[in-house]
Amino acid sequence: MKISVIGCGYLGAVHAAGMASLGHEVVGLDVDTDKIARLQAGKVPFHEPGFDSLLTEQLASGRLEFTTDPSKVAEAEVHFIGVGTPQQKNSKAADLSYVHAATDSLIPYLCEGAVVVGKSTVPVGTARALRSQIQQAQPSAELIWNPEFLREGFAIKDTLTPDRIVYGVADGAEWAAEKLDTIYRSIIDIPTPRLIVNMETAELVKVSANAFLATKISFINAMAEVCEATGGDITELADAIGHDVRIGRRFLNSGLGFGGGCLPKDIRAFHARSLELGLDESLDFLRLMDEINLRRRDRVFAMAEELVGGEGALAGKTVAVWGLSFKPDSDDIRESPALDVAGRLVAAGATVRAYDPAAMQNAIRQVPGLILTESPAEAAEGAEVVVLCTEWREFRELDPEAVITRCPGKRIVDGRNCLDREAWVRAGWTLRSPGRPDLA
Ligand code: UGA
Repeated sequence: MKISVIGCGYLGAVHAAGMASLGHEVVGLDVDTDKIARLQAGKVPFHEPGFDSLLTEQLASGRLEFTTDPSKVAEAEVHFIGVGTPQQKNSKAADLSYVHAATDSLIPYLCEGAVVVGKSTVPVGTARALRSQIQQAQPSAELIWNPEFLREGFAIKDTLTPDRIVYGVADGAEWAAEKLDTIYRSIIDIPTPRLIVNMETAELVKVSANAFLATKISFINAMAEVCEATGGDITELADAIGHDVRIGRRFLNSGLGFGGGCLPKDIRAFHARSLELGLDESLDFLRLMDEINLRRRDRVFAMAEELVGGEGALAGKTVAVWGLSFKPDSDDIRESPALDVAGRLVAAGATVRAYDPAAMQNAIRQVPGLILTESPAEAAEGAEVVVLCTEWREFRELDPEAVITRCPGKRIVDGRNCLDREAWVRAGWTLRSPGRPDLA
């Protein structure tokens, strides 16, 4: 089938290449000329394992093309909208301007019976309003809300073998759902659960899934605060409660907390939407989840400060920061707890030697005071203390005995609770872990 994907950021670019790999003819449209030129040349504008080869293969197949020319989408029967919905500059609500711009650019090219598929994360109520706008211009067109659940670092897997597919479908639009089934046929046949719900439910499924995940992380980080006050151990606690299958161990890793382009802005936008709906109490806990999450950064910063002598002691000291991206296997620094801590260390007057396998070029634009290095050991050179902020595998697999020879301070804060503590302490390190008592 001929399809278009409007918005070629993370979500859109991977979706476009993924749909081409299922055999469809795909046009990816974006207003960013640089991004489109790079994608069309087979160059991936972000770090995503496996995406280079998928993109190259699909461009070579002739089924995938990227353009800035909106008229090129005119032949497509189905149009996916995958633009971003960032947090507004002056409020916590979602900025829908890209969704509106994408819809406006698409409307003149909608053919009879076209199906528009919304994939962006939007406040509940958006889809129905967009459907009216589309149908005023092209009465035979239909809109389905089909939220995307992909995780950075697993984008291809999550696109081609998702846990579930959700369609938000208006009454009488079953024909449009059948068309979308044709596109996703080989995914549905894996089999993948495919749920048909109304438009509002589909919008809510996405934001409530992210709110639940954020809550799970903040819950365990709140327990870390309690452990710190009482002598409990957060990792052992998470392991023990995680054995209960109703709770589950995943997303119970306590540490620096959540960041990225999704969870923080989505819980804020969801809370803001609940206030608009007059539901002041229903989602008030999300405001608290956000606060718990941000407090973890204060805690990790304070641990580094305590290790070098207490308040104000970081000024003039050399500190190594391992990890700058918001999570491993990503170069994304949006709302990155790691980069926030690195920036605070710079602001405190420390000389910050940083290393990240993928995010350094993005990070230096935001925190120009960082000294970038080529390896974790080089970052640790001359440091009073190391602060591990993102749990890249490369850090977890380091030999603590080799690195200690480079780090005169021999002190480390494991901000993600990911190191083999016994091995690091045995090698001579003084190690602090948020939410965990010190090892004897
Ligand atoms: C998240 C959701 O997991 C996806 O399902 C969703 O589709 C996506 O947002 C989106 O809305 O587009 P992503 O932002 O890629 O995906 O990242 P996650 O893997 O969810 O991690 C988010 C943050 O939580 C990271 O900073 C990570 O370090 C942190 N985290 C995760 C923890 O602190 N502890 C954990 O146990 C798990």
